[in-house]
Amino acid sequence: MRKKLIRVIGIESSCDETSVAIVEKKGNKVRVLSNIVRSQIDIHKIYGGVVPELAARAHSDVIHEVIKLALKKANVSFRGIHAIAATAGPGLLGGLLVGVIAGKTLANYLKKPFIAINHLEGHALSIKLEREINYPYLLLLVSGGHTEFTIIKKFDTYKRIGTTIDDALGEAFDKTARLLGLGYPGGPKIEQYALDGDKNKFKLPMPLIHEKNSHFSFAGLKSAVANIVVKNRRTEKFKRDMSASFQETINKIIFVKTQNAINDFRNSVRAKKNLKIVVAGGVAANKSIRQSLEQLGVKENCEFLFPSMKYCTDNGAMIALAGIERFERKKFNKLNFKPRPRWPLDKNAVFMKGKRAVEG
Ligand code: KG4
Ligand code: ZN
Repeated sequence: MRKKLIRVIGIESSCDETSVAIVEKKGNKVRVLSNIVRSQIDIHKIYGGVVPELAARAHSDVIHEVIKLALKKANVSFRGIHAIAATAGPGLLGGLLVGVIAGKTLANYLKKPFIAINHLEGHALSIKLEREINYPYLLLLVSGGHTEFTIIKKFDTYKRIGTTIDDALGEAFDKTARLLGLGYPGGPKIEQYALDGDKNKFKLPMPLIHEKNSHFSFAGLKSAVANIVVKNRRTEKFKRDMSASFQETINKIIFVKTQNAINDFRNSVRAKKNLKIVVAGGVAANKSIRQSLEQLGVKENCEFLFPSMKYCTDNGAMIALAGIERFERKKFNKLNFKPRPRWPLDKNAVFMKGKRAVEG
């Protein structure tokens, strides 16, 4: 029997990247035919963070062009596409509206199914763009907007076991970098400054570290950095030592919380061996975090998998792939589907922002 080919266009515009990709699947084989990404970093960097209104405008300025480029690079026409998938949440409403309206318009005109994608499902499945992986696996998503542990039990069955109660990890890097005057995005700058710094110079708090769960809190850490910054001159040496101390503190927090998450994951699955943990999101680029997770992998006898950087950060390919999985199951959406700025992947997950992490 000939294997059926499914080809989907994926549109991503939930934060500060406009991205469109064409991905196809034949049997179990996934191929990314194109994945065009337009970053808005230059627009937002003078503000030290993403400005939602500017982000929405920038998406609407380039979306048509990025769609055209994705088709051209993939060498396919609209006729060769089976469905249109667009990120419909969570994210910044203005940006979501741009991608969703573009997707719906195409679907309506081309008479093809429209599929609304949860951005977090995209991240959860992104590893499958490059390799096959069996369910269940654990996802650690660490980006500018999200910090969570989710058990990917199988497609469309997700259990969030840990999250941040305040800032996302990338946000903590960006805010600390801003306090040190290092520029935006802060993560890569902190990593670079940390290389020559003394990681034991400043002792910073590790909120929630003793709670036997995998919830995070980073707001207190940022305040502690702010308190030290006002009492010191921001010399190059100070910036290096603070960057190194901050990164070291993050490493310790991630190590302990991931260990807790692995325990929860192990308790919830039948097979206790060969557990796999996928680490996605922009912060997964950090080499010292990767190293400390790899050490944890050896200790816990688990395998950590990192998608390539282009699929770790926001991209249309992961949205197209989630679209393919939904297309295969005929999970289509109506054209009146409303974008959802808040849209947890696990429908039963409790909203934790601002809450004390008191469960389990
Ligand atoms: O996934 P991403 O590209 O965009 C979303 O937030 O969705 O993640 C961006 C975040 C930023 O906060 C940035 O500072 C952080 O990832 N980041 C890093 C590194 N590279 C990017 N954080 C720590 N170390 C890095 N090398
Ligand atoms: Zn993301």
